[in-house]
Amino acid sequence: MAEDRLAELIAAAVAANEMAYAPYSKHPVGSAVLANNGEIYAGCNVENAAYPLGQCAEATAVGNMVLGGGHRILHVVVVGPGEHLCTPCGGCRQNIREFAGTTGAPVTICDKKGNVLLETDSVELLPFSFGPENVDLTRS
Ligand code: THU
Repeated sequence: MAEDRLAELIAAAVAANEMAYAPYSKHPVGSAVLANNGEIYAGCNVENAAYPLGQCAEATAVGNMVLGGGHRILHVVVVGPGEHLCTPCGGCRQNIREFAGTTGAPVTICDKKGNVLLETDSVELLPFSFGPENVDLTRS
C-alpha cells in the first residue's frame, strides 16, 4: 500500500482510539479499515454496563464500512491503549475475514502513538477459516 495511505489509515485508528468508550476495561482500542471503494472507515470499542454487550473497535469499523457502501477490506489497522500489542480477538478475526476473503488483507498493529508494532495479515491470524464460501447457499 502507498505509504501516505497507510499513514492516513493509522491516523484514523489513533483518532478512533481517542474516542473509545471503555470505562470498564480501561482498554481503549481504535481501528480503521481501507475498503475497496477507496474510503477509510474507523471505529472504537463501545462498552456497556452489561459487560457482554460491549463491541470491539474492529466490529465498529466494519459496521461503518458496510453502512458506507464498502464491500471488501483491503487493509486493517488496530491501535491499542499502550505500548503492548493489541491483536484482534477471535471474534474480530472472523469479522475481518468475512470481508477480507480467502486471500486476506494486511493487518497492522500499532501502539497508542501510531508506531507500528506488528505487520501481519488476516489469513495468518485466522488460518483454515470458515467464511461465506463455506456456506451452502443452495440450501434454502
Ligand atoms: N477490544 C477491541 O476493541 N478490539 C480487540 O481486538 C481486542 C479487545 C476491546 C474489547 C473491550 O472493550 C476491551 O478491548 C478489553 O477487552
